[in-house]
Amino acid sequence: MTRPWGNVYPTLDDAAAALADCVARALRDAAGERGIAAVALSGGSTPRPLYETLAREHGRLPWPQIHVLWGDERYVPHDSPDSNYRMARGALLDGVPIPPGNVHPMPTHLADPEEAAARYAATLAELLPGDPPRIDVTLLGLGADGHTASLFPGSATLAVRDRLVATSEAPDEPRQRLTLTLPALNASRQVHFLAGGAGKREALRCALDGDDPEQCPAALVAPGDGTVTWWLDEAVAGDIAQEG
Ligand code: 6PG
Repeated sequence: MTRPWGNVYPTLDDAAAALADCVARALRDAAGERGIAAVALSGGSTPRPLYETLAREHGRLPWPQIHVLWGDERYVPHDSPDSNYRMARGALLDGVPIPPGNVHPMPTHLADPEEAAARYAATLAELLPGDPPRIDVTLLGLGADGHTASLFPGSATLAVRDRLVATSEAPDEPRQRLTLTLPALNASRQVHFLAGGAGKREALRCALDGDDPEQCPAALVAPGDGTVTWWLDEAVAGDIAQEG
């Protein structure tokens, strides 16, 4: 079912498969138009089937022109089970012919998270044109508390306007995070949220209504010159899908 804000599918796997086709098309078009395509990956568990589908069905994308970034990262070693990089490595990157230099993990090996945030901001600015630099496809998830990337409700990081990447503190372990800030996210050409499960219904309603954005940072993702599309399962969309 297609609504103005997005698409609802029977299962999260169905939503992920449809989103994979959309992401593949967007990256192919960006590479064709500008010679480079940049995608920022989200973390957590939801996107795994999306990444697996991209690796399985879309290995013939112009990977040498595609650059992979992250929207946020837990401040852990890249081989930690908590690492968003590790999950994407296993679900996607090890299965496609992407040049190693095109994969840009957040530098969580640095002792100082603030230094890591500044380094990653420089990576973004060097890689992509625009001020702020424009990511072609930004993938995001939704937490049950309304967070997205590592922008948590009530966090001071929500107010950052002078940096592309910032440190943040999660309510749960691993607490230390790095995240793209709203200026970086809102420079995206396309933002795609993938979310599922009844436990996120309230967060989705809050994100779509936008009534209390400070308490639902996902509602603050609104690119001035880009699109936001939600890819949902029926369990999270529930009665929202029936509304106008
Ligand atoms: C992270 C993610 C985070 C995630 C949500 C949803 O580092 O955890 O980037 O923003 O998208 O927490 O996580 P699940 O997909 O595991 O529910």
